[in-house]
Amino acid sequence: MSRIAFVAGNWKMNGSLAKVDAFASEFKQTGADLSCDLAVCVPNVYLQRMIEGLDGSGVAVGAQNLSGETEPGAFTGEINGTMLGEIGCKYVIVGHSERRAMYGETDEIVVAKTKAAAAAGLQPIVCIGETLEQREADQTETVLATQLNAVLNGCSADELKDFVLAYEPVWAIGTGRSATPEQAQAVHAFLRAQIADRDATMADSIQIIYGGSVKPDNAAEIFSGKDVDGALVGGASLKVESFLDIARAAQ
Ligand code: 13P
Repeated sequence: MSRIAFVAGNWKMNGSLAKVDAFASEFKQTGADLSCDLAVCVPNVYLQRMIEGLDGSGVAVGAQNLSGETEPGAFTGEINGTMLGEIGCKYVIVGHSERRAMYGETDEIVVAKTKAAAAAGLQPIVCIGETLEQREADQTETVLATQLNAVLNGCSADELKDFVLAYEPVWAIGTGRSATPEQAQAVHAFLRAQIADRDATMADSIQIIYGGSVKPDNAAEIFSGKDVDGALVGGASLKVESFLDIARAAQ
């Protein structure tokens, strides 16, 4: 694989200052020097603390959401990409299925947020995925193509130059039931082919990572697919040991 592997943790609404500090100092103590790209995406209130704690460790920090608005203004409770960039965030997750399902994020909103992330110099980790009903109704490819093409059509090549695509089947998130390595590889190959239809160079270089119940004991087999470039890890990213085991399997 010519692409560098990427393992990103998504802490979701978990953690505390004590857990942030413990994660950062434990990670540094391991002295791990991995050849893959690494990031942890923590709640906004802990971003700066994690950025400071992980300074020099080789692990980047990302947010889990941002506003689609790029200009400052009357948007109570929102945070824009410029603010995230200012404190040292490198990545931002966009369109996680929990945000699509619980906070009404449509493909249109996902496109606006992807553009806003790019405008602020952040690398968007754009999430797409089908539900169990959609998979059972044989709609997986149609659903994923719609979600992916919204972003490919809605953003310019320049806005997409640093984007990471995360395939997260909704039925595999937090369920302990990950996609099989064959299922993940088949979908990733399909997504890469969709991108290649528009831009062969982008298809070759883009990191397409898998998310959904990735654990130390299934990571290596999931990463065996040639189009699977790493993982977006929920629960197993909260502990340094399991996060590192997954990262080691990816490189
Ligand atoms: P789990 O690894 O806990 O299944 O979560 C996956 C996920 O949603 C990462 O964004």
